[in-house]
Amino acid sequence: MRIDILTILPELLQGPFSASIMKRAQDKGLAEIFVHNIRDYSTNKHKQVDDYQYGGGAGMVMSIEPIAAVLDKLISERKYDEIIYMTPDGEVLDQKTANSFSLYENIIILCGHYKGVDERIRQIYITKEISIGSYVLSGGELAAAVLTDSIVRLIPGVLNDETSALTDSFQDNLLSPPVYTRPPEFRGYKVPEVLLSGNFDLIEKYRDEEAYKRTKERRPDLLD
Ligand code: ADE
Repeated sequence: MRIDILTILPELLQGPFSASIMKRAQDKGLAEIFVHNIRDYSTNKHKQVDDYQYGGGAGMVMSIEPIAAVLDKLISERKYDEIIYMTPDGEVLDQKTANSFSLYENIIILCGHYKGVDERIRQIYITKEISIGSYVLSGGELAAAVLTDSIVRLIPGVLNDETSALTDSFQDNLLSPPVYTRPPEFRGYKVPEVLLSGNFDLIEKYRDEEAYKRTKERRPDLLD
C-alpha cells in the first residue's frame, strides 16, 4: 500500500513512521509512506502557502494553488482509492473505517493548518474527511499519523501472530480483556488463577467474559 501525506510541516511526521511496526511495514515493502512538503509547490517568491480569508476574520487559510499542484502531480501518476482530508469536522475515525482503508492500494492524506484549506480544495479533490476525535489539534499531522498507524498495522503480513490485530480492542466491537505477565504476584495483587491453570477453554471463556464486562462498564455504546 502507498500512502502520500501532504503537509506544510513534514518534520512533524518524521518520528511516527521511523520505529516499531510502521518501520517494519516499510522495511518489508508492505507499506510505502511518502511525505510531501506543500511549500515546495508554492510559486510565490516567499514560498507562502496561506493567505487572509475573504470576508475578514482571524486566522489564515491554506491556499489552493500549491495543494492543487501536489495533488495534480500525484493523481497524474497513479490512481488513488481515496483522497482524505484530516479535519475536526470530518467523520470520526473508528476501527471499521481503518479496516476498510487497509484494503486500499493508494491513498492521499492532506493535513490542514491554520483555519484549514480553501473550501474549493475539499469540493474538487477530497473524497473523505476524517477526524480523530472531538477536539482540535494545531494541525492535521498528528491526526494523519494516527490514521496511518491504524491502517498500516492491518495490512496483511505487517503484524505477526504475537501482535495479531484479530485480538485488538474493537475488532469484534469489544474492548480487550486485561493482560498479565510475570511475576504472578506483585504487592499482594495476584494474576487471576485461571490464567495460570493451563486450561485453554477456561482461559478463553474468562477472556471473553472480561472483554464483555469491560466493554459494558466502559463503552456500553459498542454493544448497541
Ligand atoms: N486537525 C485538527 N484537529 C483535528 C482532529 N481532531 N482530527 C483530524 N484532523 C484535525
